[in-house]
Amino acid sequence: MKQRLFSGIQPSGELHIGNYIGAIKQWLGFQESYESFFCIVDLHAITVRQDPAKLREQTRKLASWYLACGIDPEKSTMFVQSDVPAHAQMTWVFNTFTQMGELQRMTQYKDKSKQHAENINVGLFDYPVLMAADILLYDPEIVPVGEDQKQHIELARDIATRMNNAYGRELFVLPKYVGQKEGARVMGLDNPEKKMSKSAGSEWNYILLSDTADVVAKKIKRAVTDTDTVVRAGDDKPALTNLLTIYSMLTGTSIADLEKQYAGKGYGDFKTGMAEAMIAWLAPLQEKYAIYMNDPAELDRALSRGAQKANAVAQQKLHNVYQVVGLGR
Ligand code: TYM
Repeated sequence: MKQRLFSGIQPSGELHIGNYIGAIKQWLGFQESYESFFCIVDLHAITVRQDPAKLREQTRKLASWYLACGIDPEKSTMFVQSDVPAHAQMTWVFNTFTQMGELQRMTQYKDKSKQHAENINVGLFDYPVLMAADILLYDPEIVPVGEDQKQHIELARDIATRMNNAYGRELFVLPKYVGQKEGARVMGLDNPEKKMSKSAGSEWNYILLSDTADVVAKKIKRAVTDTDTVVRAGDDKPALTNLLTIYSMLTGTSIADLEKQYAGKGYGDFKTGMAEAMIAWLAPLQEKYAIYMNDPAELDRALSRGAQKANAVAQQKLHNVYQVVGLGR
């Protein structure tokens, strides 16, 4: 029997290359060897105020990007979180096994409550518990994500261990964080000290999978560089390290080879080459994306099938947990 994988992305905006490199690229490598569950986590997205019509549209867009990037709904289970009620139900049980102090320590919660000071809702606080439910419902061995999610996976492991101990049995498999060696934390193009993020405030921070060739070229041209002029990665060169990592992850050429290729050349040549490579990489993805977006019936079929498969697994798990905890008949 294959081991399981679970991961997800919020439909809270457009996908950027940080999401692709940190998460989706890894998924593609595991899809053949793991029984995979790829979720579109819309319940997580509403912890920040969303326009209803836009959220629904973003959910479909994200599903289309999953498919365009190479998620195969025949091999894997691709589904929308709110189509599987067990996620919210399991969250309630897990809430009673999670301490306030644990959630207060979560970095993402601290960051987001600063960003959304006018709406620090209970859902934002409870977000990591919902994420633990997402994961533990499927008993996955691995959770491939970017480094920013590592702390949440540790919490999921703690909740799983606590419940396994409380009920004296292996109720849950302990999931492992899996991240890229390079690219677990893609940094902002405008600030290599902070991670690339949809909520960065400036569009010069990120490249979206939906960006046109023109925009990609402009964004790379404006990307911050280091003070010297050498195309090289290293601890003393955060900006070039980030650009070289992105370039390398998208083309498959190692950073060492890219450094050789650009030896003796300046940042101008490097950026032109990088923009060309990125545009060439994006073009076929964007074509496929358009095909899926233009066939809503097929997308609906894929999501319905996914919801059915996910519900079967999740309901069984929820039932087991209810039994053990003393809920239900
Ligand atoms: P989200 O939607 O913010 O991001 C989706 C994925 O992209 C990764 N990522 C990055 N990787 C490298 N560099 C970056 N700059 C970068 N920015 C984002 C994230 O680590 C993530 O893998 N809480 C999650 C969604 C979630 C989830 C889950 C993930 C909900 N339930 C269960 C795994 C399992 C989140 O907000 O991701």
